[in-house]
Amino acid sequence: MTEISNATRFLHAIELGLGAWQWGDRVMWGYGASYNDKDIRDVFDVSLSQGIRFIDTAEIYGSGRSERLLGQFLKETDQPILIATKYFPWPWRLTKRSLPSALKGSLNRIGVETVDLYQIHWPSPIVSQERMMEGMVECVKQGMTRTVGISNFGQTRMLRAYSTLAQHGIPLASNQVHYSLLTREVEKNGTLARCKELGIRLIAYSPLEKGLLTGKYSPEKPPPGVRSQQYAELLKKINPLLKLMTEIGQDHGGKTNAQVALNWLICKGALPIPGAKNAKQALENDGGAGWKLTDEQVAKLDEMTDEIHK
Ligand SMILES: NC(=O)c1ccc[n+]([C@@H]2O[C@H](COP(=O)([O-])OP(=O)(O)OC[C@H]3O[C@@H](n4cnc5c(N)ncnc54)[C@H](OP(=O)(O)O)[C@@H]3O)[C@@H](O)[C@H]2O)c1
Repeated sequence: MTEISNATRFLHAIELGLGAWQWGDRVMWGYGASYNDKDIRDVFDVSLSQGIRFIDTAEIYGSGRSERLLGQFLKETDQPILIATKYFPWPWRLTKRSLPSALKGSLNRIGVETVDLYQIHWPSPIVSQERMMEGMVECVKQGMTRTVGISNFGQTRMLRAYSTLAQHGIPLASNQVHYSLLTREVEKNGTLARCKELGIRLIAYSPLEKGLLTGKYSPEKPPPGVRSQQYAELLKKINPLLKLMTEIGQDHGGKTNAQVALNWLICKGALPIPGAKNAKQALENDGGAGWKLTDEQVAKLDEMTDEIHK
């Protein structure tokens, strides 16, 4: 086990965060139609009131709107918030200098001088991990980010990023990946274990499997938009899992399926960042932390999800 570096220790102390993809995104989430800025403001306020201090955004969310909304809200609170944002490796900006320049854009939109975590949103098929990490080193040197993370990196790429940063004395803080009760690849392929071994915080995105794990969708009542097609097959199989989650939630004083799904990730050693479209969803999700499933319950849930994917 590598000892967790002092610079990135704060990430390991966070149990639960808040995702901000919903903040301005029309294509996947229907922002502006089924919910609006006022709802997002409520999500922010409720989350803060429940002790959430880590918010994950990206320059591409709502084409910058997510970062701008965050900036607006930050101005109106005196609570300390840990900010994570992301660089998207568009093919037209792949030099080492592209990263500090993109981060400047994010800092302007958020209205801060530095963020707590700057992540590469996706690995680039064109540019090496080494080149990207050199850009990240520049961002750290210029004081524009406190720590460096990656997202959607498999083990090989993750190790290359880790080694390049290590040559500059900078720890790799996190790898943000798709991880939920219904998507357990990172557990099966050893990424989670490798993260723990190297002191890299694994941040779990789509922890509610984009709403499926809340139990509100079924083959008869599929989610709207892109998700209906994406999840048509999976939806036919998840009823026994949802039932088990409800039963387990009852043993903890009536925790909901969403709360069980988030707690399962916490028990696995990941940091879930659920997205929410309104205060009610945010409040419910925040109740996913502050308690623990038993080892036996975690094992039962594991077994059930293995069955689904057989
Ligand atoms: N790095 C990456 O490539 C990447 C990719 C995806 C996401 N992310 C990050 O991870 C965050 C979370 O992932 P995600 O937004 O994809 O999915 P998620 O957190 O699994 O699901 C969020 C969606 O589920 C529904 N929902 C949330 N809480 C609910 C509740 N308590 N009750 C009922 N419905 C609820 C809402 O949609 P409906 O009401 O419409 O069902 C909400 O938009 C994002 O905001 C983003 O910050 C990163």
